[in-house]
Amino acid sequence: MLETRQLTVRFGGHVAVNAVSCAFRPGTLTAIVGPNGAGKTTYFNLISGQLKASSGEVFLNGNSLAGMTPSARTRAGLGRAFQLTNLFPNLSVLENVRLAVQAARAGAHLRGLNLWSIWSDHKALTSLAEEVLEAVAMNDKRRTPVAGLPHGDQRKLEVALLMALEPDVFMFDEPTAGMSADEAPVILNLIRKLKDDKRKTILLVEHKMDVVRELADRIIVLHNGALVADGDPAEVIASPMVQEAYLGVAPVQPSLPPRWGRSEKP
Ligand SMILES: Nc1ncnc2c1ncn2[C@@H]1O[C@H](COP(=O)(O)OP(=O)(O)OP(=O)(O)O)[C@@H](O)[C@H]1O
Ligand SMILES: [Mg+2]
Repeated sequence: MLETRQLTVRFGGHVAVNAVSCAFRPGTLTAIVGPNGAGKTTYFNLISGQLKASSGEVFLNGNSLAGMTPSARTRAGLGRAFQLTNLFPNLSVLENVRLAVQAARAGAHLRGLNLWSIWSDHKALTSLAEEVLEAVAMNDKRRTPVAGLPHGDQRKLEVALLMALEPDVFMFDEPTAGMSADEAPVILNLIRKLKDDKRKTILLVEHKMDVVRELADRIIVLHNGALVADGDPAEVIASPMVQEAYLGVAPVQPSLPPRWGRSEKP
């Protein structure tokens, strides 16, 4: 189980995440919603260790992650979508996924210098990487250098790499943002499939309420860094706060995610 206790970060005088206490259980997909600037990405950064908390703690299966680097947290089972800046731009898509698969298995390979086992590992890793690419419908791009991928493919690759790590906890931050209408369903199907594995804990930051409504077992709402609602999707969606923020009377701006407390209300 993943848990944050009183997790807080301040940037100067601004409290971006404010004493958020929340537990996330395996077999549950929790959607994290809230307006732009609510602190959703910052909350993820605190959990994954990209940002250091001002106070409060993160626990995974009862153990505090305080002081652990992001890569140590990844090894502990926390899966955050890769930033493509962490990839090898001149290596192919397949090579990058294979390296991620290999990283996921690091430690299981201390068999000494046995060329046969290195070769059979290489083949096993390659076929695993191919499976992962198949899952995101990118096998046809396997030989393309990562640097040459269009934006939608880069986002799909981020999800592919996360899958390859086989984490216990999946953290998706707007996974379909910037994707075309035919790319987004690939990712949503994948998340749907992940939900079948009841050992996995899934956190999903998502602005699209139709996606949230369909996938979430639970919704938490962040507002000004604080956790202001937590519960059953139907109840949370029906709450006046979410109604106003996402389905309210404010004019729809198709190219922008919904905002809380728009100033241009009619
Ligand atoms: N490294 C940082 N330094 C200073 N301020 C930051 C930093 N990271 C985030 N913030 C601020 O913290 C607040 C929360 O930002 P965050 O990106 O977490 O919001 P969000 O809920 O993910 O929004 P969005 O829906 O737009 O992605 C914002 O006011 C942001 O400007
Ligand atoms: Mg964000």
